[in-house]
Amino acid sequence: MNKATRKAVIAGNWKMNMTPSQTKEAVEKTAALVKDKNGCDIVLCVPFVDIGTAAAAAKGTNIRIGAQNVHFAESGAYTGEISAAMLLEAGAEYVIIGHSERRQYFGETDKTVNQRTKAALAAGLKVILCVGEVLEERQSNITDEILSMQTKLDLAGVSKEDMQNVIIAYEPVWAIGTGLTATPQQADAACGCIRSVLTQLYDEKTAESVTIQYGGSMNDGNAAELLAMYHVDGGLIGGASLVPEKFDAIVTAAQ
Ligand code: 13P
Repeated sequence: MNKATRKAVIAGNWKMNMTPSQTKEAVEKTAALVKDKNGCDIVLCVPFVDIGTAAAAAKGTNIRIGAQNVHFAESGAYTGEISAAMLLEAGAEYVIIGHSERRQYFGETDKTVNQRTKAALAAGLKVILCVGEVLEERQSNITDEILSMQTKLDLAGVSKEDMQNVIIAYEPVWAIGTGLTATPQQADAACGCIRSVLTQLYDEKTAESVTIQYGGSMNDGNAAELLAMYHVDGGLIGGASLVPEKFDAIVTAAQ
């Protein structure tokens, strides 16, 4: 398998935006725009309370719904947390795990990212696993080491078979919400580095089959050149996913 056969995945990460009523309108509008664009998988990862509304609005369309986090326990005394079974029943098929905002603001570690990943896969969710370096790490020329370490720790104990349900999102922290974008060459090199770590962990066939997205200020203006790179199989889009026309333009670039 290679870029020609890997399915591109364009996923929106709404972060903490949109109430349920706004969700219904945004999903319906997005669905009307991306209808018939079947050259990539399309996912919207919405706040927990919006999942049911989003899933109902996306029913019968080519949009799939995801969440932005999941707890690793099946149930229990974990106030404020949400289990994989809850997400599935509410209508989520995907879940983002290890986003840098969770690592930065909510104490998420590679250990908990790994626990969440294994629990989500065991329950039947598809995982969008986020990794990425901060600016100081890039400036110190240790980006590859950081990506390698995160990928290995976050995927510890995840089987080769389970990797068919894992998407990796390379999100350089310095490019998120800043308007700064990695160059296509930087994005390709980092996604290629992650792919070579997957070859070490699994085998070349598995590594070549995994979808690796770029995320960080991807928009309607820069998506085409990023998505053209060999190792970049899609995008995880924040701000631009909140505007249906912009998200649609990125989906179009991935066709
Ligand atoms: P922006 O596209 O807003 O930079 O966010 C990227 C991101 O964090 C997606 O998960």
